[in-house]
Amino acid sequence: MQRRNFIRLVGGGVVVAATLPMTACSLSSAFPAQAVEAWKGPQDESDLRRRALAYAITAPNPHNLQPWLVDLRESGVITVLTDPQRVLPQTDPFGRQILIGHGAFLELLVMALAAQGTAAEVALWPQGELGADLKGWDRRPVARLTLKPGGLKDPLFAQVFNRHTPKSDYDPSRTVSADTLSALMASVNDKTLRVGGTVSAPDLPPLRELCWKSAQVEVLTPRTIMESIHLTRVGPAEILKHRDGISLNGLMVRALDALGQFDRNAPPTQGSQAYKAMMGRFEGHSNTSMGFVWLSGKNRRADQINAGRAYVRLQLKATELGVGVHPMSQALQEFPEMAPHYAQAHQLTLKRPVPMTPDDETLQMFCRLGYTGQAVPATPRRPLAAFVRT
Ligand SMILES: Cc1cc2nc3c(=O)[nH]c(=O)nc-3n(C[C@H](O)[C@H](O)[C@H](O)COP(=O)(O)O)c2cc1C
Repeated sequence: MQRRNFIRLVGGGVVVAATLPMTACSLSSAFPAQAVEAWKGPQDESDLRRRALAYAITAPNPHNLQPWLVDLRESGVITVLTDPQRVLPQTDPFGRQILIGHGAFLELLVMALAAQGTAAEVALWPQGELGADLKGWDRRPVARLTLKPGGLKDPLFAQVFNRHTPKSDYDPSRTVSADTLSALMASVNDKTLRVGGTVSAPDLPPLRELCWKSAQVEVLTPRTIMESIHLTRVGPAEILKHRDGISLNGLMVRALDALGQFDRNAPPTQGSQAYKAMMGRFEGHSNTSMGFVWLSGKNRRADQINAGRAYVRLQLKATELGVGVHPMSQALQEFPEMAPHYAQAHQLTLKRPVPMTPDDETLQMFCRLGYTGQAVPATPRRPLAAFVRT
């Protein structure tokens, strides 16, 4: 069955008639309930390890690839592995960001075990680290968790299912206070990392400009924008099918898609509605950044994991405080066209040159701060069974 919808496109004031299939035609932009069922928690799951995993799979992670796998075959142990298919070779060629996502997963897992009276002894890279080249990535464990009685409930655990990344403009009339920034920064207690940030008005324009310029490089470099486009899920049917990636369910993008104006096989043509929408989002996000917070440290595999553990704690703290923390990772992407912005990101935040070795201080996370006017939606997750090897 077909239904004709009249949709006003943002910006141009153009009214178009889009023919959307009725099956995909709930006019709500909310994600389908089944795609976001993970946020209801473990429900009636009785197994301790699976209950903990039900929390961990909500971890923040790049492009919502959910690259984690777990092996539960050894009793009293959880072995965390990476799925070598779920990587971002163009924008994250060394897997640094993917491993930050593993760190976030591990932190939530440890917290969820502790909340059930179970302590976890975490051994990172028990069979050696993954190499620099993604092509050589195999299923060697990222971490082996040995469980034993103990564990103290962490106050931030209460925020796990409230935590969502605000991928939207912030309210430009609401500043972020220095106290809020300090409280956020104090949530990082890993001595191997450094946390920095600013909410000072004179500091913001160059950092906003960095976000906007680096986003333009990602959009205008065909192979990097295609990486995002291939991971974009538009409308309820695609979102339900994949339950990962960049999920878009707004009416405008669904209309563009239905009208064939969102070509998944080529970068958006400059001047097209899809191009304007994509650029407009990045420009709005950049310009409404009301502060920034960043994490840095050495750049060995364990440092990347630890950065992820600290990052999710910081975002949970932000959730408790009601302030938005949104990574803008474009300037941190390690592909050649981004090099000038990568250098500038290190200069503006750490006042340091580009790191040359894994022991040099490296910017691991760079996030915009601010307040959204509305609730931030939960993003899809695949079902728990998809992650578990038994
Ligand atoms: C290492 C890392 C880098 C990220 N970079 C970006 C980014 O550049 N832009 C963005 O919108 N979100 C970024 N995110 C947030 C993810 O897109 C987000 O965690 C994921 O879509 C799941 O959504 P949720 O955090 O609301 O559960 C990043 C997250 C991590 C862990």
